[in-house]
Amino acid sequence: MIILKSREEIEKIKVASRYAIEILRYLGQFIKEGLKTIELERLCEEKIRRIGRVEPAFKGYNGYPYCLCVSVNDEVVHGMPGERILRDSDIVSLDFGTRYDGFCGDTAVTYGVGKIQKRTERLLAVTESALYKGIDEAKEGNRLHDISNAIQSHAEEAGFSVVREFVGHGIGRSLHEEPQIPNYGEKGTGIRLKTGMVLAIEPMVNMGKSDVVIRQNGWTAATKDGSLSAHFEHTVAITEKGTEILSVL
Ligand code: MF3
Ligand code: CO
Ligand code: CO
Repeated sequence: MIILKSREEIEKIKVASRYAIEILRYLGQFIKEGLKTIELERLCEEKIRRIGRVEPAFKGYNGYPYCLCVSVNDEVVHGMPGERILRDSDIVSLDFGTRYDGFCGDTAVTYGVGKIQKRTERLLAVTESALYKGIDEAKEGNRLHDISNAIQSHAEEAGFSVVREFVGHGIGRSLHEEPQIPNYGEKGTGIRLKTGMVLAIEPMVNMGKSDVVIRQNGWTAATKDGSLSAHFEHTVAITEKGTEILSVL
């Protein structure tokens, strides 16, 4: 069942989403060669505690033990912060969600560490623009897979591939609600999009093949061929006045 949101509810999701992206931007300042990924978790926890108005939405979700997901290089999503040290030319995807007055916001960004290769820069740029292509299709009257198809076409035209095992999603009182939003699909198919829907759209794009494996920790997804993977995510609302990206400052 898809739960439509009122204006008041959307405002709460917006507060959560804005704090989530504010914290990801804050963490971005610390990303450089030599940083241990667990430091990002510490900085994140400290920052959210100092803000005081929002709670981390991931910690404890299905037993996930951290506030933040930190996925480095070939890791696609659900990387766990730890003792790994960032190196020049790495890429690091940060995914973070918060809860405000019962409502969640969810957003992700991929950062480069130091100087990254041209093709890596292209992977990040294409993944981010795929997200915006998807958002452009998230409007009243369109079909769900119009979003999916826009993301897939953009990524594949650039010679990259989209991950099939993980999807975007509705969001509200729960971090993950219906509908699931695949990052591939046929235009003109899927449910009709309506005012009041709030969606987390999140392309995961690989430089090589689309296949992923799950690491020993039971959480972290990584590319099977070891190629780099990027991830960008926004929480957006379909409203009478059009589509609003909630996870922006
Ligand atoms: N943030 C992820 C998503 O974008 C989900 C994280 S689940 C967690 O949907 F358990 F790792 F928190
Ligand atoms: Co997320
Ligand atoms: Co999400």
